[in-house]
Amino acid sequence: MSSDHALRFCQEDIVVSSPEVAQFGANRPCKVALAGFGTVGQSVARILCSRFAQQFCLTHVFNRRIEQKKTDWVPNHVHWTDRFEHVLNSDADVVLELVGGLDPAGEWVSRALAVGKSVVTANKQLIARRGPELMQLARENGAHLLYGASVAGGIPVLQGLQDGLAGDRILKIRGILNGTCNYILTEMERSQATFSDALEQAQAMGFAEADASDDIDGFDARAKLTILSRTAFGINVAIDQVFARSIREVEQVDLSHAHDLGCTIRQISRAELDGETLYAGVQPALVPEASPLARVSGSQNVVVSTGEFGGETIFSGRGAGGDPTAVAVVSDLLWIARQNGLNAETPSAKTPVKDVSGDFTTAHYVRFRVNDRPGIIASLANIFAKYTINIDAVLQRPGYSKSSLPFVITLEPCSAATMSEAMAEIRQLDFHVHPPLDLPILT
Ligand SMILES: NC(=O)c1ccc[n+]([C@@H]2O[C@H](COP(=O)([O-])OP(=O)(O)OC[C@H]3O[C@@H](n4cnc5c(N)ncnc54)[C@H](OP(=O)(O)O)[C@@H]3O)[C@@H](O)[C@H]2O)c1
Repeated sequence: MSSDHALRFCQEDIVVSSPEVAQFGANRPCKVALAGFGTVGQSVARILCSRFAQQFCLTHVFNRRIEQKKTDWVPNHVHWTDRFEHVLNSDADVVLELVGGLDPAGEWVSRALAVGKSVVTANKQLIARRGPELMQLARENGAHLLYGASVAGGIPVLQGLQDGLAGDRILKIRGILNGTCNYILTEMERSQATFSDALEQAQAMGFAEADASDDIDGFDARAKLTILSRTAFGINVAIDQVFARSIREVEQVDLSHAHDLGCTIRQISRAELDGETLYAGVQPALVPEASPLARVSGSQNVVVSTGEFGGETIFSGRGAGGDPTAVAVVSDLLWIARQNGLNAETPSAKTPVKDVSGDFTTAHYVRFRVNDRPGIIASLANIFAKYTINIDAVLQRPGYSKSSLPFVITLEPCSAATMSEAMAEIRQLDFHVHPPLDLPILT
């Protein structure tokens, strides 16, 4: 759907609606005002205008120094403003708060909720500090407040805990929630860099801000753990009750000792319920090398939840970045729209699917077990060549009997159908002791 379509939809609707009677739903799209046109805000606007132009109408973009923000890919009907009052006094149904920080963003969120506008935010500090109070305000005014993007960026962990695991009793949450710390610690481990060198590199690569103390000293992860704990345990945890310890003290020698113990060191956020006590904190910790917490590299995030009945569930993916975070914001927006009966199904694929095929193109591994004699590789190579399949490598381990000799040929990518024809011909050869095993190699 083009943005022109969105434009028509909005203009018609402005004529027939007023803020008092406007209830979006089956008959009109949901009107959305965007506050904050930075990394996440711009990604959200792109998704809304390209993928959801039929369901949502972007009415306002609010930002400071708005003249410097204007772009030509935003539909012409959108009002650009540097005054939040314009958003408050508009007929927008939902405000997306993507400015960040406690103030004035907190003030704007509460004013929007107070006039009955629903709010979607990615602001972890605001929700960690004022979430319960703002939720109450939303309820009192018949509005929604959603903040799925505030924890672990694009990973739907809050929705997963709240809806998907609602039937369980969550006992424990462990996670890697800060990409900057994870990048620094994995880099120290990989290249034996010192903490300061790894930090400098993270800053040069754009994985850490010039002042990265919020990340390094655990305050960013603490805000996310506070929100996660509320969601997982249904407990009203205050952010200051959660302790945070810095990763600054970790040295190379600690990583070496950890390695000797079969472990590595990561910034771990954890919360555990034990009777009437909730243990919650963020700190560097040793974790076994085989654990999912150790295997998350760079700026990835992971959350492992343990439930009384369902056991462990792992949520992992991209914990930051404009596009992944924007996906979480738009998903929250879709949820709000569905509550109002708007047909907010995810649009189907651009090209309608006419066929379902198993004919993947991949590299292949073929294991043979043969009664050895000269010329076996040559005859296999001839058949692969006939089907224009390139051999990548031939692998054979010593120590097997010649009468039942295993070896492997790996092949460059080809279609499953071509591979199947070549293998049908190969199976007819008379040197096999067992039929060859053909497996795709997924990269
Ligand atoms: N980026 C991520 O990967 C990520 C991931 C998860 C959650 N989040 C959260 O998403 C929110 C937005 O983050 P972001 O990365 O998009 O930040 P950003 O790139 O700095 O964008 C913030 C936008 O808000 C504007 N702004 C800031 N203060 C303002 C004020 N007082 N009045 C009007 N406009 C103001 C900024 O304008 P200027 O350009 O003029 O500064 C900028 O356009 C934050 O709550 C953040 O914690 C971000």
